[in-house]
Amino acid sequence: MTAELNTLFEFLRFPSVSTDSAHSGDVRACAEWLVNQLRKMNLTVDLHETPKHPVVVAKNTHVAGRRTVMIYGHYDVQPVDPLELWNSDPFEPVIHDGKIWARGATDNKGQMLAHVLGVEKTLREVGELPVNLTFLFEGEEEIGSPHLAPFLLHHYDDLRCDVVAISDTGMVAPGVPTLGYGLRGITCCEVVLRGPKRDLHSGLFGGAVANPASAMARLVASLHALDGRVAIDGFYDHVRDLALWEREMWQHIPGVSDADFLAVTGSHGLFGEPGYSSSERTWARPTAEVNGLTSGYQGEGSKTVLPAEARVKLSFRLVPDQSPKEILAKVQNHLEWHCPPGVELEFIAGHDGKPYLTDPHSPFGIAAQQALRTSFQAEPVLIREGGSIPIVQTFHDILGADSLLLGLALSDAQIHAPNENFPVENFEAGIRLNQALLAELAK
Ligand code: BES
Ligand code: ZN
Repeated sequence: MTAELNTLFEFLRFPSVSTDSAHSGDVRACAEWLVNQLRKMNLTVDLHETPKHPVVVAKNTHVAGRRTVMIYGHYDVQPVDPLELWNSDPFEPVIHDGKIWARGATDNKGQMLAHVLGVEKTLREVGELPVNLTFLFEGEEEIGSPHLAPFLLHHYDDLRCDVVAISDTGMVAPGVPTLGYGLRGITCCEVVLRGPKRDLHSGLFGGAVANPASAMARLVASLHALDGRVAIDGFYDHVRDLALWEREMWQHIPGVSDADFLAVTGSHGLFGEPGYSSSERTWARPTAEVNGLTSGYQGEGSKTVLPAEARVKLSFRLVPDQSPKEILAKVQNHLEWHCPPGVELEFIAGHDGKPYLTDPHSPFGIAAQQALRTSFQAEPVLIREGGSIPIVQTFHDILGADSLLLGLALSDAQIHAPNENFPVENFEAGIRLNQALLAELAK
């Protein structure tokens, strides 16, 4: 095994699950490991406390007159459950079929570390970097980056840069270099419907009082029209139309046809807003999704019960120029208005992040395309992303810098799911990509 893979394996062994407070010690240990790696490269490194998980910042010596590039990544990972569906320990990486299998292998430790190791390689080979570099690594991306915007404001002078580079997004197919120029925004919430003061015998009381599970089913159903459009009043008000050139361009991108979506997901059919292809629906149209829905008896066999409550977790993916706060207010209004009688509704707002859209043909965009071309020896494709990285628009708002999304995540990487994986090939390409990118951005 190469030294680089060895280092990645060490990084992957930390169960840095940001959402689970039982793992906060592991998140911190992971940050400290990172600090140590970066110090070995003779960078100036600081671990900054936040109310939750630490931020790690590392810099080379900044010289006036050179471009300043920030590379952002996150060292936190998603929970592993359902654990029984993993073929190997999520925190004991293994390699087979040319891929590294572990939680965080793609999202985001493998992609992020490729940049660190690219910088290490350049420093080893050349002695210095062609740009002023700032690494910014956080441990809260998977929980919506709640403390990073205040951190940027507070450390504004230290974090100013010309451009941000991020490898935390998708690559449409193996060997096809992919530049992302957009991300969807997001807003999340949870709804509880409460009925009787405790679970009831459904024979003695069913039919006489409102059932929170049935009420929830109706409420959830009210979010969409039958044709798949979101039925919330004003939901599409500020949605920016897709440009013709994008729709045309996306038709020629490999790996993202409707048939590919069916194959990758294993779904029994495609469904979504009429008039758009699957890639258009996920990259450039807003949606409403149920992320979790619970009520009543879930065990074996049947239990004749009328549940006391029902819960749903919802998220809404947003596109320019929708505002997460405005959409959440519309959602709350919709839910309260459509709540069936006989139950009480509690609305709990969650985290959010703004959508992002930039021009892939800007000078920095062209430099990123050239770096992708050099490191993959193939012509890059330009896409938007269905996923969200909440801090990206904030980089623009606070630091005035655009982000280059140099994605290395394949559609079968199983990020956020069991058996997450990252091809060794992509890890190595990421190291080359970092070197090519800094060289291009220096020009
Ligand atoms: N790396 C992903 C986002 C991503 C993956 C974008 C693939 C494009 C392609 C990121 O770590 C992520 O999962 N973000 C969350 C953000 C949320 C928790 C606020 C998401 O999109 O659900
Ligand atoms: Zn993620």
